[in-house]
Amino acid sequence: MSQGLISSAYLVAAVLFILSLGGLSHPESARRGNLYGMVGMAIAIVATLALPHVNAYVLIAVTMGVGAVIGIVVARRVVMTAMPQLVAMLHSFVGLAAVLVGFASYLDPSVQHHGVERTIHEVEIYLGVLIGAVTFTGSVVAFGKLQGIVTSRPMLLPARHWLNLGLLLVSLWLGWEFLQADPRGGLVALVLMTLLAFLFGIHMVIAIGGADMPVVISMLNSYSGWAAAATGFMLSNDLLIVTGALVGSSGAILSYIMCRAMNRKFLAVIAGGFGTPTGTSAAGVAEGREVNPISAEDTAQLLKDADQVVIVPGYGMAVAQAQYPIAAISEKLRARGVKVRFAIHPVAGRMPGHMNVLLAEAKVPYDIVLEMDEINPDFPETDAVLVIGANDIVNPSAQTDPDSPIAGMPVLEVWKARTVVVMKRSMATGYAGVENPLFFEDNARMLFGDAKKSVDAILAAL
Ligand code: TAP
Repeated sequence: MSQGLISSAYLVAAVLFILSLGGLSHPESARRGNLYGMVGMAIAIVATLALPHVNAYVLIAVTMGVGAVIGIVVARRVVMTAMPQLVAMLHSFVGLAAVLVGFASYLDPSVQHHGVERTIHEVEIYLGVLIGAVTFTGSVVAFGKLQGIVTSRPMLLPARHWLNLGLLLVSLWLGWEFLQADPRGGLVALVLMTLLAFLFGIHMVIAIGGADMPVVISMLNSYSGWAAAATGFMLSNDLLIVTGALVGSSGAILSYIMCRAMNRKFLAVIAGGFGTPTGTSAAGVAEGREVNPISAEDTAQLLKDADQVVIVPGYGMAVAQAQYPIAAISEKLRARGVKVRFAIHPVAGRMPGHMNVLLAEAKVPYDIVLEMDEINPDFPETDAVLVIGANDIVNPSAQTDPDSPIAGMPVLEVWKARTVVVMKRSMATGYAGVENPLFFEDNARMLFGDAKKSVDAILAAL
């Protein structure tokens, strides 16, 4: 393939990636967006294989084959609730790839740069390896936190800010040493910096509390994009630079959106320590108050008598896979003339858009799925709210308890409705580890049990 044709193919692929991102911004166009992305990636791979210096076809075919088999098996096996972990794991691969390409690029004897060109190339390598190493270990820890292997509580070392500052200063000094060394003589500095960056990635994510994980996930998404862009610079591959920059900047925008949704400052989240439980104990919340249980039959009757119903899905709906029967309930009620809407909190579940994906899967019409800001003013006029496997996102202590780890986070104000039915299995806390006073409100009713079983029972009673 001629260079002109390859450049044109790269341009087409880049445009398809932009169209893909555009499509993914709305559930209705998301399928199309995915398709654009897949076609763009196929074109990018074929064009890259046609580059004049790419000739290790057997090796490429074998590694692509192994990768494809692993990818297909994992994609088929992964359950929807484990999707966030998988995404975190994939981010870690991008980071590790940037580290490996950086080392390979530095040690490659065929790469001969001189003067300013050499300095620029080595700066690209140093930054690429740095960002890649932070992304790698940060994503591995995020995987552990989402999988429940690592505690979701923040682990705070004493003088952690000084430690971070120290790591930064040493990395800068090592960078200087790296650039001053003879060609390929800066390997020791590069290895030392990589080890420090690995430590920094672990330290950064482990210090962040459960409630702030959404910001961390989108931030690592952004880092993985910048790591890919840095790899593009190292390999002088324009498409990889464009693609990395697209992922990096869209991840940064997502981090901003997540921060706004949680009323956090980005730098404060990165500095860590938020989401720290400050002793909001179950006893403190309950203080001799009892919860009011309700049966599935009574819940069905409540829904039948209501004019307006709002359904609030959370992580528990994903665990129980209760999206299909809840969609059926909403259809039944709508057929009876009840106004039914779904309320989506921006950080409900474990990944951005988690609930939207599940509801779309169950074919809930998009026009009855509302964002938090749209639905919050309507709760006082709502007769019944069904909270299905949600906890932190409906916790009034975010507004009432300034010491709460989630203080200031905007929440769905479900307690303002006439009656709230909360479906969950026990009195356990949500991901942020904060007790929820909602359950003890006079207008709250607890429907204990697995959400799928409870929803099936309500559906049967309807
Ligand atoms: P959570 O606060 O985690 O609460 C989920 C509730 O579902 C739990 O209290 C649990 O109570 C219940 N549950 C679990 N399995 C269930 C089942 N099979 N049947 C019925 N109930 C079940 O979820 P949320 O309200 O969606 O809030 C999301 C939280 O995750 C926030 O703290 C958010 O910051 C964090 N987070 C979000 C993201 C993104 S990007 N969305 C990423 C990481 C973390 P029981 O155990 O008593 O049943």
